[in-house]
Amino acid sequence: MQSIWNTLPRPFFALAPMEDVTDTVFRQIISSCAPPDIFFTEFTNVDGMFSDGAKEVIHRLIFSKKERPIIAQLWGGTPQNYYEAALVIRKMGFDGIDLNMGCPEKKVVKTGLCAALIKNHALAENIIRATLKGADGLPVSVKTRIGYNTIETEPWIRFLLSFPLAAITVHARTVREMSSVPAHWDEIKRAVDIRNEMKKNTLIVGNGDIASYSDGLSKSKICGADGIMIGRGIFKNPWIFDPHIQLSSLSARKKLNLLEKHILLFAKTWHNTKNFQIMKKFYKMYISDFPGASWLRTKLMEFDNPEDTLSYLRTYKEMTN
Ligand SMILES: Cc1cc2nc3c(=O)[nH]c(=O)nc-3n(C[C@H](O)[C@H](O)[C@H](O)COP(=O)(O)O)c2cc1C
Repeated sequence: MQSIWNTLPRPFFALAPMEDVTDTVFRQIISSCAPPDIFFTEFTNVDGMFSDGAKEVIHRLIFSKKERPIIAQLWGGTPQNYYEAALVIRKMGFDGIDLNMGCPEKKVVKTGLCAALIKNHALAENIIRATLKGADGLPVSVKTRIGYNTIETEPWIRFLLSFPLAAITVHARTVREMSSVPAHWDEIKRAVDIRNEMKKNTLIVGNGDIASYSDGLSKSKICGADGIMIGRGIFKNPWIFDPHIQLSSLSARKKLNLLEKHILLFAKTWHNTKNFQIMKKFYKMYISDFPGASWLRTKLMEFDNPEDTLSYLRTYKEMTN
């Protein structure tokens, strides 16, 4: 089976997995603006997938053909469930499986999972091996950080590279640093050097603070990363994966039209199964950097359903035409 990772351009650009942000709706919206070379789902708990509450987590694995290629990101604590999840994901037609070993949230690492696996190589190994077995040729990758309390790129990335992983995404901060310091891009270069020295085929994807397409290109050149992953940069510019679209060319009208499209697709996809409050997280992304933006954001916060929000938005657009 040809690995999707080997078909991507160099450097390739990925849209980062972001909980409660990069669901199927948001990915379709970004795809309609300028698609990245590869998408990831939000992290999905394998233990949840095989529990009575499966319905609560499985919506994270919904995707459409506009979001290809797409990698399912998993987390959890039971290797057997990673194996079972990999079987399901293969059947669903995903292009790969990514293992979350980077989430630093207190309530998650407290359970010894995600970024806490940096301190527990034995469990990390069991998870990787179980997933590789279930994936049966479907590429498996890992997204991680450069250490727990201190920078440990050398032992940790070397350890990960001892497995036949298709890619490792390196978010260049330690767990302790959360997002409070600039990403250490020199550590991504170090990961690339270790990979080259070990003569492995695993791709290295650099992640952390990329503000624009050109920023990603120049960072990949400097550190030699095969790919670049962008997370929060998408909030400043939904067209970030188009090298020709500049921030300054994004008019208020263009952004408001995109917000309208997002709300419509949110309502059509989720009906009433997802809380409309989630949609409000996106207002700053669409309603900013134009006169009256702050006022409009505050106004839209008053509405708790798609119908009222869309009705106000359309009236506003007509009045400001
Ligand atoms: C709201 C939010 C949710 C996130 N959820 C996930 C997730 O589900 N899985 C994951 O691996 N990383 C998650 N991350 C981390 C991002 O994928 C990325 O590594 C981080 O934001 C750094 O990249 P950036 O500086 O380009 O944003 C999340 C980040 C944010 C801001």
